[in-house]
Amino acid sequence: MSYNKTPSITAETINSKVRIFTYEPCGEIVRHARGLEQEIYENPGSLPFQEIIYCNLGNPQALGQRPITFFREVLCLCDNPPLIYRDEARALFSPCALKRAKKIVESLPGRQSGSYTSSQGVRSLREAVANGISARDGFPSRPEDIFLTDGASSAINLMMQILIRSPEDGILCPLPDYPLYSASIILHGGTMVPYNLTEDSGWGLEIFEVKRCLEDSRASGLTVRAMVVINPGNPTGQVMSITNQEEIVEFCRKEGLVILADEVYQDNVYTENKKFNSFKKVARSLGYDHNELSIVSFHSVSMGYYGECGRRGGYMEICGFGADVMDEIYKLASLSICPNIAGQILISLIMDPPKIGDGSFETFMAEKEETCSSLIKRAKALHKAFNSLEGVSCNKFEGAMYLFPLLHLPPLAISAAEQEGVSPDVFYAHRLLSATGVVVVPGSGFHPISGRSHIRCTILPDEEKIAEMVPRLQAFHEAFMDEFRG
Ligand SMILES: Cc1ncc(COP(=O)(O)O)c(C=O)c1O
Repeated sequence: MSYNKTPSITAETINSKVRIFTYEPCGEIVRHARGLEQEIYENPGSLPFQEIIYCNLGNPQALGQRPITFFREVLCLCDNPPLIYRDEARALFSPCALKRAKKIVESLPGRQSGSYTSSQGVRSLREAVANGISARDGFPSRPEDIFLTDGASSAINLMMQILIRSPEDGILCPLPDYPLYSASIILHGGTMVPYNLTEDSGWGLEIFEVKRCLEDSRASGLTVRAMVVINPGNPTGQVMSITNQEEIVEFCRKEGLVILADEVYQDNVYTENKKFNSFKKVARSLGYDHNELSIVSFHSVSMGYYGECGRRGGYMEICGFGADVMDEIYKLASLSICPNIAGQILISLIMDPPKIGDGSFETFMAEKEETCSSLIKRAKALHKAFNSLEGVSCNKFEGAMYLFPLLHLPPLAISAAEQEGVSPDVFYAHRLLSATGVVVVPGSGFHPISGRSHIRCTILPDEEKIAEMVPRLQAFHEAFMDEFRG
C-alpha cells in the first residue's frame, strides 16, 4: 500500500495570515528570557543575575500585586456553595461576601459555577455590570447591551469578525498600537488604517491627522468601518482630555464610524488633573444617543487595582447596533458557548464593588488605595530611573501600566544592530536582558512609524524589585553607551 509520507501541514501551508502577524510582548524577547531562565535552573550562578524579571507584560499578580480579598472571598464561595450555609464560614468570610455569593449562586444555572451559561453571560451579572456603568457615567446602561467575555481580547476579536468583510474594509488604529489590533485585523482579513499619535505632544491624538488618514484610505478604495481608541493608552500611557474625546465623537458621528473604545485601563489613572471618561459618557453628554452614533466599549478584569488577568473576564457594551446585528453577535458569541464563569463573576464585582455602609467597604478601599498609591510610587521610581540615563527621555505617565522611554542610541550601536540584522531597539532590549535579566518589549513591536527607538517597560514589579532593578539598569546602560560611544 502506498501512502504519502510528507506531512500535509507545514509552516508554509498553514493559514498565511497567522504567519504574517507578530505579537512582540510574548515574542522573541520572551523566548530569549525562557532560555536564560533554563540556564539559571541548570547552572545556578552562571549569569550575573538570579532571576528573570518579566516587565514585558502587564501581569500584575505575577509581579507581586495582591488580589482584592472581597473578590476572592466571593469567588471561593461561588465555587463551594455548601460553604455559604455552614456556621464555620461566618468566621472565615465577611458577611458581605457571603451575601453576595449567595445572590450570585442563586442566579447560576443549576446553582453551580461549572455550568454553561447564556452565551451573553448570566443576566444578573450583566445587570450588575450595567448598573456599575450607569453609576460611573451618570447615563443609563442596559443589560441587553452587555456581553460578558473571556477578557477584552476575545471581545475585540469578535468585533473584528463582525466588522471585517474583505481586505477593502479598513479599521483606524493608533500607532504605536497595542498589537492585538493589528494581529486581529490581519487574521480577519481586513486592512489596518494607522493614525499616528504625536510623541512630542505627550502622545496626543490630532484629529486632523486621523481625518487625513481616513481621506487617504478612502481615496485608495477602502471602506473604513471603525476607529479604535485606547484610553488610557498602551504602550504610550497618555490619558485623553475630554476635549479630544469630544472631537473624536463628533468626527466618528459625522463620518459614520463605529467607535471601538478600549477602556481596559480605566482604573489606572495617576494624574491629578485628568480623570477617566468613557466614550459613551462623552457622547451622551454631547446629546448623542444610540441612534446617532455606534460605540462598542471594552473593559476587563485584567488591569487596575484588581489585576486578575489570568481569570479572563471582561465585558463589551454595544450601543447603536440594530436588533438584527445583536442577534448575529449573539450567534457568534455562542460558538464558544459561554464566557467562563469566574471571569463573569469577577467583572460583575469590579463594576459593583462594596459600597459605603457595606461591611467589607473599608477593607476593600484600604486594599484598593494601597495598590493604587504603590503603583504611583513604582511608576515614579522607574520614570526617574529611565530619565537619569544618558540619551534616554521617558514619556509622562498619566495612566495604564507602562513606560515607553525614547532611546537616542549612538550611531555605532545602530550599525551594530544593522550588522545583526535587527532594529536598534531590538538590539538594545536583548542586550539589556542578557546583562540584567529584565525583560522589556522592543518598541518596534508596537509598530510606531516614527523610526525612533523605544522600549516598553511595565511599572508593575513590586517596590523592592524596582529598587533592585534600577541600579542594574543604570550600570547596563552606562556600559552599553561606553561600548558604542566610539
Ligand atoms: C489596550 C489593551 N486592550 C486589551 C487588552 C487585553 O486584555 P484582556 O486581558 O482583558 O484580554 C490589553 C492587555 O494588555 C491591553 O493592553
